[in-house]
Amino acid sequence: MQIWAVAGGKGGTGKSLIANGLALGLAERGLQVILVDADYGGPNQHSYCGIRKPATNLGQFFEERRPLEELAVDTGVPGLRLVPGNLNTASTDSITWSQKQKLFRHLRLLRADHVVLDLGAGTQYDTLDTFLLADVKVGVILPDPLAIENFYLFLKNLKFRQLGNLLSQAGLKERAKEIWKQRQDYGIHDAREFVQHLRSLSAGFAESLDQQQERMFLQVVLNQVREFSQVELGLAVKSSVQKYLQIDSAFAGYLRYDKDLWQHFSQEQPALRSSGSFTLRYAMEGVLSSILDHPRRGEGVAHGRTG
Ligand SMILES: Nc1ncnc2c1ncn2[C@@H]1O[C@H](COP(=O)(O)OP(=O)(O)O)[C@@H](O)[C@H]1O
Ligand SMILES: [Mg+2]
Repeated sequence: MQIWAVAGGKGGTGKSLIANGLALGLAERGLQVILVDADYGGPNQHSYCGIRKPATNLGQFFEERRPLEELAVDTGVPGLRLVPGNLNTASTDSITWSQKQKLFRHLRLLRADHVVLDLGAGTQYDTLDTFLLADVKVGVILPDPLAIENFYLFLKNLKFRQLGNLLSQAGLKERAKEIWKQRQDYGIHDAREFVQHLRSLSAGFAESLDQQQERMFLQVVLNQVREFSQVELGLAVKSSVQKYLQIDSAFAGYLRYDKDLWQHFSQEQPALRSSGSFTLRYAMEGVLSSILDHPRRGEGVAHGRTG
């Protein structure tokens, strides 16, 4: 079973649209897919699915301890089920840290080929941890400096969170804090040198850092493109993410801005299945194919392992 997660820092970029499109595309390929609306503060995946009043919601997993499996409702699309978000309360404060940890464990137990997670905006620890846990990490950006800025911030936080988690696991967190405080004495000037120094402390830590680095591969999707010249941005983001954050990524493709998208929401079917959404659907297909063909750099499913 594979967990896919869609995130990106800023709200309103199209994370939910893209999570929906990926889940739909995977189901149409004959796979069993469960889409989980994990945007605790602003759930709307049910609307993308064409469900007005979901019969169940993720809140019942947290509050009533109902099994996640039971909360997945049919979407009318064969193979695609949805665990809707909680519409009764948009308060994320009521869900504790340990409840969210429990959710991670239960996601892995779901009986499906793919679980697609629609994550909320922002850089809260649980969003970062969920994203880190995912086998396929999809980041959504817009051709807009504010969205790009938040995306970098999201990734920077992600790197620090990953480092912090690994240091805790290795029992090195306090030591690392001390070293950072006295970094001048250690001749450490920046984050890179800091990490380099931490690696030298423990071979086990260095090894788990390498393993995590291997898992940290990002699929970047550019949404709401209005002019073709904006597409270059997707490629530029890929290279600067590598240069400044040492994160490998692939530009999985782009979706045009569709001024009529809002008209395709209905209670009959997922918005992307409406005939008017054809262009978006077609672009989504391209994005999905690109992700499936290149789950990692140089690693194509369809074309075999090349690097
Ligand atoms: N390619 C697009 N063209 C037109 N409108 C879009 C597109 N992608 C998203 N939208 C609209 O932008 C808004 C935010 O999209 P949503 O998927 O909810 O983003 P997020 O989950 O990142 O907050 C919605 O009103 C949605 O209909
Ligand atoms: Mg959303």
